[in-house]
Amino acid sequence: MASRPELLAPPEIFYDQSEARKYTSSSRIIDIQAKLSERALELLALPDDGVPRLLLDIGCGSGLSGETLSENGHHWFGLDISEAMLDVALEREVEGDLLLADMGQGLGLRPGVIDGAISISAVQWLCNADKSSHEPRLRLKAFFGSLYRSLARGARAVLQVYPQNVAQRELILGFAMRAGFAGGVVVDFPHSTKSRKEYLVLTCGPPSLSAAVPKAKGEDAESCSDDESSGDDEKTTVSVSDRHRPRKKQKLDKKSKGRDWVLWKKEQMRRKGATVPADTKYTARKRKSRF
Ligand SMILES: C[S@@+](CC[C@H](N)C(=O)[O-])C[C@H]1O[C@@H](n2cnc3c(N)ncnc32)[C@H](O)[C@@H]1O
Repeated sequence: MASRPELLAPPEIFYDQSEARKYTSSSRIIDIQAKLSERALELLALPDDGVPRLLLDIGCGSGLSGETLSENGHHWFGLDISEAMLDVALEREVEGDLLLADMGQGLGLRPGVIDGAISISAVQWLCNADKSSHEPRLRLKAFFGSLYRSLARGARAVLQVYPQNVAQRELILGFAMRAGFAGGVVVDFPHSTKSRKEYLVLTCGPPSLSAAVPKAKGEDAESCSDDESSGDDEKTTVSVSDRHRPRKKQKLDKKSKGRDWVLWKKEQMRRKGATVPADTKYTARKRKSRF
């Protein structure tokens, strides 16, 4: 299986001129980007009133994802760290304005200016430290903080991501929640390795109906798949992590610090953005006393 690109090189190096051309000349990639962007736009749940919205495409690359936004009648601008990808977008004469920028340094936009944001397969890059000056936690903090500020209250950001593991997903989601977002993760085709797609669906502002996490896709869906050959028989699964949801009062036996306490403590650490081992059947197991 090919390695994820983010494990191979920093994005501005990986997406060089030759990769940028290869990327946009592949009909498979064009198709995938279009499907993922359609789904992200659907999850944005913009009002169905025919009014064009101003949207941001984070990691817009060659503008394939932005094209979906244009086709749906919206205005957009995009930012990307790869000059080569943006050059291809310019050549393709995409409708959106383009910025050469590193999302890990913050978006630098005015407060409340955008009506929504999408990102396709880009945000997981922030989890890598590509330079000695890079600290993933600081970069995630700067990114989510600035994204939160730049969105209009009640607006959504839908970020399709490829986290490497549970810890990375928790890390990304943890920083989104710390920035003030409500929402969670929608997982389409959760049981399929090929078709599984994760979307962070984040709502800015006070909890409201719009903060409810939408349904994931399963059984009868048009899959946003890397491999269109897979016919899935999946159950729809939605996993939600909502900082505004009132916590159930748990009776925790702090004295004996049993499994419940350990699970609660680990969850608390994850919410703070710490890397915490996954919960397994061995978590907080009682060990035999040997003597
Ligand atoms: C899989 S490509 C998605 C391309 C895009 N959706 C399109 O339609 O072409 C991921 C993009 O994220 C960009 N990216 C990765 N890290 C970034 C960062 N720190 N800041 C801005 N863009 C970044 C890459 O340069 C790349 O263009």
